[in-house]
Amino acid sequence: MCDHFDWEKCYQEKTARWDKGAPVPALVDWLTESAARGGSVAVPGCGHGHEAAAVARAWPKAEVAGIDLSETGIEGARDNYPLANLRFEVGDFFAGSAEGDLTAIIEHTCFCAIPPQHRKLYRDTCVRRLERGGLLVAVFYLNPIETEDDPDDGPPWGASVPELDAYFGEHFDVILSKVPSRAFPGREMRELLRVLRKK
Ligand SMILES: C[S@@+](CC[C@H](N)C(=O)[O-])C[C@H]1O[C@@H](n2cnc3c(N)ncnc32)[C@H](O)[C@@H]1O
Repeated sequence: MCDHFDWEKCYQEKTARWDKGAPVPALVDWLTESAARGGSVAVPGCGHGHEAAAVARAWPKAEVAGIDLSETGIEGARDNYPLANLRFEVGDFFAGSAEGDLTAIIEHTCFCAIPPQHRKLYRDTCVRRLERGGLLVAVFYLNPIETEDDPDDGPPWGASVPELDAYFGEHFDVILSKVPSRAFPGREMRELLRVLRKK
């Protein structure tokens, strides 16, 4: 899965330019404004773990798991964030057969890292893993600059609002959908924070 792009090499060579060294402001703000939750939470494509750690700190009763394909990325995450309710796993988020085991999936720049032909698999994995009423909280990338992270036609791949509606609408209610007021420099007006609740 996702062999199109060598994530591990980027982490090894320290060319992971998408890594801003901090959790995405949209998620930080949402966590501050929202009630804390418990249960099992997954953060797919967690990279160096910034968003997973933000969730673990904001939701101390939750058991948070960051998952990423890259061993080097996960090693960095473990070094960065040794928190009691947070673990990091090397793995493919789309693998396995677990069903209904998660209360929330929270992600930043994972959907946009998946080749567009695999987006249904992403959606189906979220549907399979979330319990009824579980949340998918995602900072989607609407219109990335193609050359920002990779000049060779690689990720990030943007998505339009109608596309997101088409992928997720059948299985999720939209609880919140907004262009965040704060973003990393250069990403202003390019992100969409969506909170989706599984039907
Ligand atoms: C653009 S990076 C974002 C990393 C992190 N969320 C951040 O914002 O710094 C995308 C991440 O998704 C991971 N990834 C891609 N496909 C994956 C999969 N199928 N399962 C788990 N992680 C995956 C990559 O290894 C990479 O770390």
